[in-house]
Amino acid sequence: MTHSGPATPLEARSSGPLSGKVRVPGDKSISHRSLILGALAVGETRISGLLEGEDVINTAKSMRALGASVERTGPFAWTVRGVGVGGFAEPAAALDFGNSGTGCRLVMGAVAGCPVTAVFDGDASLRSRPMRRILDPLELMGARTGDIKEGGRLPLTLHGARDPVPIVYRTPVASAQIKSAVLLAGLAAPGITTVIETEASRDHTELMMKHFGADITSEREGSHGRKISLAGQSELHGAEVVVPADPSSSAFPIVAALIVEGSDIVLSDVMTNPLRTGLFTTLREMGGSIEESEVRGDAGEPMAQLRVRGSKLRGVEVPPERAPSMIDEYLVLAVAASFAEGTTVMRGLQELRVKESDRLAATADMLRVNGVKVEISGDDLIVEGRGHVPGGGLVATHMDHRIAMSALVMGCAADKPVKVDDTAFIATSFPDFIPMMRALGAEFS
Ligand code: S3P
Repeated sequence: MTHSGPATPLEARSSGPLSGKVRVPGDKSISHRSLILGALAVGETRISGLLEGEDVINTAKSMRALGASVERTGPFAWTVRGVGVGGFAEPAAALDFGNSGTGCRLVMGAVAGCPVTAVFDGDASLRSRPMRRILDPLELMGARTGDIKEGGRLPLTLHGARDPVPIVYRTPVASAQIKSAVLLAGLAAPGITTVIETEASRDHTELMMKHFGADITSEREGSHGRKISLAGQSELHGAEVVVPADPSSSAFPIVAALIVEGSDIVLSDVMTNPLRTGLFTTLREMGGSIEESEVRGDAGEPMAQLRVRGSKLRGVEVPPERAPSMIDEYLVLAVAASFAEGTTVMRGLQELRVKESDRLAATADMLRVNGVKVEISGDDLIVEGRGHVPGGGLVATHMDHRIAMSALVMGCAADKPVKVDDTAFIATSFPDFIPMMRALGAEFS
């Protein structure tokens, strides 16, 4: 999906206390994986709570194009009948992943293990993102690419391997997308595929592969890393998947409630996998009131109900090793830091430069146009919090859903309204963001 229509701007103004109980949509990472693993399994996979955002819908379409049956059976309820490991059919047309790096890169891994050729494409944002990091290990496993642009940019043609080779791969950056692509290709390779990461990244692929019956193990490697080993060429079996609420989407109402004085909100079923909750740890260190209750789990993924109350925040230092567990949350953390008293230093953010936009530059711009003092020093972001934000800025979205939502959250408590130039991309990950925030009391117009 490319959003070629007119831009849809929106303004957020300071509101009264936010209150109410909501469930944000299903986790995006788990939603993509449930469709892909369902398509590679034998038998039926029933998914409840799927995120019906554009990114995930594009993955569903790509699974259909590759031969799986994917049906919506009710609100957020989907059934997938898979083709078995290595069983993808050649798609008749290019696979269009729209704005989604995760969908595109994970499906590249799945296709790399099958003897089919597929063209991968996406919107202008995705076409600007590096794919070399995914193609390098997949080529070692036997996949081939056609003529490709510098950095392996889209559109590109991938020829999957007839006889995929298991490899031992040390990921050059902490990236669950690279790890998952290698593991998905490894499903079809004989023998053991191993991925070693120096900094552990989200482990949803490992947990879900296990849930589908794969022989996969994960052990500690060094002080912050993991070594994951997968035995290939064994069948996956269709399974039930309950998708918990997305902690990355919950970050927006959470920060809004923390910065709007007197707020008191409850978020249900939020996934609390420790490899995703770096933001919650950081906000608590800043003095944010976030209480967990009703802790439980499903298919290896923990979840809890969160109660969040308006809080006086203080600046903190966020260590670089925390980055993989909150990589998508720095934009909205920078908003919280702007309302805190004191300086917040966020270290080791080089990966933010290659997300849906250059998020390091875009975050600094978002803060600056709203009167916040901010500096980028190497790969670090330094925000001078003064307890309040002047606001009054127009924020450029750069085709990035999380910039749009972060700026609107900032407007909920800024002295003057904050405007975003385009809200269209919010539909990639959180289609109900605007009505849900309004239901909590946010003033968007
Ligand atoms: C994701 C991994 C992260 C994250 C993205 C989702 C995933 O990317 O930014 O939104 O589901 O595997 P990297 O693995 O490239 O850091």
